[in-house]
Amino acid sequence: MTATVEASANEAPSGGKVPLVELKNVGKTYGNITALKDICLRVHAGEVTGILGDNGAGKSTLIKIISGLHQQSDGELLVDGEPMKFGSPADALAKGIATVYQNLAVVPLMPVWRNFFLGQEVRKKSFPFSLDANAMRATTLAELSKMGIELPDVDAPIGSLSGGQRQCVAIARAVFFGARVLILDEPTAALGVKQSGVVLKYITAAKEAGFGVVFITHNPHHAHMVGDHFVLLNRGRQKLDCAYEDITLDHLTQEMAGGDELEALTHELGRKS
Ligand SMILES: Nc1ncnc2c1ncn2[C@@H]1O[C@H](COP(=O)(O)OP(=O)(O)OP(=O)(O)O)[C@@H](O)[C@H]1O
Ligand SMILES: [Mg+2]
Repeated sequence: MTATVEASANEAPSGGKVPLVELKNVGKTYGNITALKDICLRVHAGEVTGILGDNGAGKSTLIKIISGLHQQSDGELLVDGEPMKFGSPADALAKGIATVYQNLAVVPLMPVWRNFFLGQEVRKKSFPFSLDANAMRATTLAELSKMGIELPDVDAPIGSLSGGQRQCVAIARAVFFGARVLILDEPTAALGVKQSGVVLKYITAAKEAGFGVVFITHNPHHAHMVGDHFVLLNRGRQKLDCAYEDITLDHLTQEMAGGDELEALTHELGRKS
C-alpha cells in the first residue's frame, strides 16, 4: 500500500490562518472530578497535532468535546473562528469534524464496501429502492484507490484486513463523507511496527492533502514521526505545547514519561540509562 492522498480538502498550512478548530481555556468536570482544565489548542489545515498523555490524562475527554459527544464545562470551542456548542457528534460531523475511534465499530463479517457505507447506504433510484451494491462497491474501490489503498477485493470481510488497513479504510470513509478534521484516537495502539508504519504514512498523506489531523497517542516515537506540533496532557492539565522544531524525540519521551520518574525507574531496575 502506498500512501498518496489525492483528495484536496483545505488550503495551505497555518501561517496566521484561522484554525479549523480552536479550544480556548477549555475545562471539563464530571461531578467533582476535574478531567480537563485550561486547555488551549489550535488545529490547522495541513498539520498534524499530536495529543500525548498517559492513562487518565484526559485525551479521550478532549476528543469527546471536539467531536460533539460531550460539552465542555468551561471555555470555548471555535470552528473556523466561530464559537460552537455541539449537541451531538452529528453536529460536529456537519462541520466536517470526524472521529475514528480505536475500536472502529466495524462489522467484521461484512464486506469492506458494506462497512464503508454503514449507516449511509446508497439505494437504487427506482422501486423497490433496494441497496445499490454495485454503486457502493465501485465507489468504495475508487475512494480507497484514490487514497492510495490498493485492496485486492472489496467483497472480502473487513475482519480479514490487517489492523492498519482497517484504520486506513475508516479514515478514507471519514474523508469521503466530508471530513476536514480527522480525529484519530490511538490508531496505532494495537498495531505492530509494520502496520503502525502503514497508518503513519497515511496520516502524513492526509496532512499533505490539507486535512487537519488530531493524532492521539501514548507513543512519543509515533507522535514525533508525523506531528507538526504536540500537546502533552498530564492529569487534565496541559503540560507542554510546542512545535516540532522546538522539541527533540528524546525530550518529548522524557516529558511523556515524567522525566525524573523515568530516571528513578531506570535506577531502580539497575540499568544504565
Ligand atoms: N464519564 C466520566 N465520568 C466520570 N469521570 C470520567 C468520565 N470520563 C473520564 N473521567 C475521568 O476523567 C479523567 C480523564 O479520563 P480520559 O478517559 O479522558 O483519559 P485518557 O487520557 O483518555 O486515558 P486512557 O489513556 O486511559 O484512555 C480520568 O480521571 C477519568 O476517570
Ligand atoms: Mg482514552
